Amino acid sequence: MQVTRRDAIKTLGASAALLGLNLFAGKLSAAPASAASSKTACAYPFALPPLGCAFDALEPHIDARTMEIHYTKHHQAYVTNANNALASQPALQKLDLKELLARINGDTISEPLRTALRNNAGGHANHAFFWQIIAPGGSSAPSGKFADDIAAAFDSFDSFKKQFAAAATARFGSGWAWLVYSPATGKLAITSSANQDSPLLTGDVPVLGIDVWEHAYYLKYQNRRADYIAAFWNIVNWTRAGEFYSAAKTA
Ligand SMILES: [Fe+2]
Repeated sequence: MQVTRRDAIKTLGASAALLGLNLFAGKLSAAPASAASSKTACAYPFALPPLGCAFDALEPHIDARTMEIHYTKHHQAYVTNANNALASQPALQKLDLKELLARINGDTISEPLRTALRNNAGGHANHAFFWQIIAPGGSSAPSGKFADDIAAAFDSFDSFKKQFAAAATARFGSGWAWLVYSPATGKLAITSSANQDSPLLTGDVPVLGIDVWEHAYYLKYQNRRADYIAAFWNIVNWTRAGEFYSAAKTA
């Protein structure tokens, strides 16, 4: 779906809580010492947000070394590259991350800057979201209206999990699978995206997401992406996902 800059800005504005408040000013604690302090995740120059748990906290489902490399190397690279891409762009530096993402599909940013920001600002936003919807111990299932709406949209919670896993499995190469809220339809939907494309680029608001880049699982699972996806359900922070859903619906 091609969206206009106005559509993107409207969607991103409606999801300000996602990228502005809930995402980057979250309630996570126990961040590694490397986490940003004076810098912020959503304003240039971008910085890593807190991870929210120790690197080994998600064992055995995601191993400590993978978490450490994923956070300190891969996510940091998106942050660094996004900052580098903006180094000579004083007007764009004034935008926060959600505003910057809203511009990517518009006509004011040309190549190669557009691709650099789509990949790296997108990668930064996606990972900052991802760290928030995974947690040690997770929670077994969504609850309340969130659970009701998932069941209504996908027949049942088990059916949702199967459809989400199928989308994650079918995503060729590197990318993400998402549970999104579509402001356009007022419904939940399962999607997937290539590379670091954010759902926000096409007008959807992420509620849950799984990173299926090999860097997210290869050390432990090698080629067994399906096993990683199955393990993912053990660490989903459904409480946080429900907060994203509520924020998206009420924005
Ligand atoms: Fe990743």
